[in-house]
Amino acid sequence: MSPGDAGVLPFLDLYGADFQARPHEVLRAYREQHFCARTPLGIAVLRYAELQDLLAHRLFRTPATDLLTMQGITTGPMVELMSALLLNSHGETHDRLRRLVSRAFTLRSVESFRPRIAAIASELLDDIAPRGSCDFMADFAEPYSSRVLFEFVGIPLTAMEKITKWNADIVLMFGFEAAANAPRIEATLREIGSFVDELAAQRRREPRADLISALVTAEDASNLLTPAELRAMMITLLSAGTGTVSRQLGSGLAAFVEHPAQWQALAENRQLAAPAVEEVIRYSSSVIVGLPRLSTEALLWNGLQLERGACLVPIPGAANRDPAVFTDPERFDITQQRRSHLTLGGASTTAWGRRWAGRSCKRRCCCWRSG
Ligand code: HEM
Repeated sequence: MSPGDAGVLPFLDLYGADFQARPHEVLRAYREQHFCARTPLGIAVLRYAELQDLLAHRLFRTPATDLLTMQGITTGPMVELMSALLLNSHGETHDRLRRLVSRAFTLRSVESFRPRIAAIASELLDDIAPRGSCDFMADFAEPYSSRVLFEFVGIPLTAMEKITKWNADIVLMFGFEAAANAPRIEATLREIGSFVDELAAQRRREPRADLISALVTAEDASNLLTPAELRAMMITLLSAGTGTVSRQLGSGLAAFVEHPAQWQALAENRQLAAPAVEEVIRYSSSVIVGLPRLSTEALLWNGLQLERGACLVPIPGAANRDPAVFTDPERFDITQQRRSHLTLGGASTTAWGRRWAGRSCKRRCCCWRSG
């Protein structure tokens, strides 16, 4: 089969009942046939080497405002926010934003927050332990991921309820229901904007040991985000850093329930906490289908002749089990030394999301051990 002609590629129905019911089995069959497959969204990339290349490739970009444009939204607050998001910025702008945020989001600041992460986990467990059972997502994973993020960023916990509501509106902006919900989403964007501006002004006057203070104070003003960039950054953190972590904790727990010997191994050896986090995110990735990429020009990529604007769909759920890279990939094994998974995107995009996600999940693994 020549991949040059995308028409001859196998067809994978990402919305089909088969894929929804047993995604990994379906993906294995497709990945064995070819590194890619046609889907209703675009060309799915299933193997590790090609996916790693796609995620790092400068000639592909995230869809940014395209979904809004398709719904007739070409100006206004939604377009402004979408264009300012780190995920949707590219080239020099992306590098500059990443540099400014990485300065505030240093390994040291995440490390020094570890005792607080442990304390939050313990507080929640102390509450659960006397009951003898719990709803893991509602009683632990969700409050844990929100509290850790809020405290690190510097958002008062009293704002949690309204931010949860805002997040639900923001999500609508990334789908096909943005136009139908435009008044509601725009009102939410205005409210979040004022909330962030007010918080930033407070921290400028009285900086604290939190991320927002680090973002709004710098010796040189050229080292600061603009107010619009700061708003977009806070919205990214609030929406990208809570549901992702809690869902990953939930699917990680499910993997351990299915593999009690691995749970026992972790309980007996604390050193396995870090590799366990990586293995959980590889094997029971909460992101099976990743964020689509569009080609910014016509190009020949891995034998595929792509038009400008061609849509490629990363499938980390398939690449993370590629036998060309992982030994015995269908096995959940926290003791294996493995290559990095691709769940969190390419190394160029998410170094600190990766750092943070790892810390948040690792603490939980340590607590599972002692609990
Ligand atoms: C296990 C938890 C997490 C998962 C599964 C996850 C997943 C992802 C994915 C799939 C992307 C898109 C990558 C791409 O297509 O290139 C992404 C980007 C991003 N994530 Fe996460 N994430 C997690 C935790 C976090 C946390 C805790 C934060 C922040 C505190 C965060 C902040 C970000 C940011 C800022 C981006 C955009 C990065 C850029 O474009 O440079 N993520 N994440």
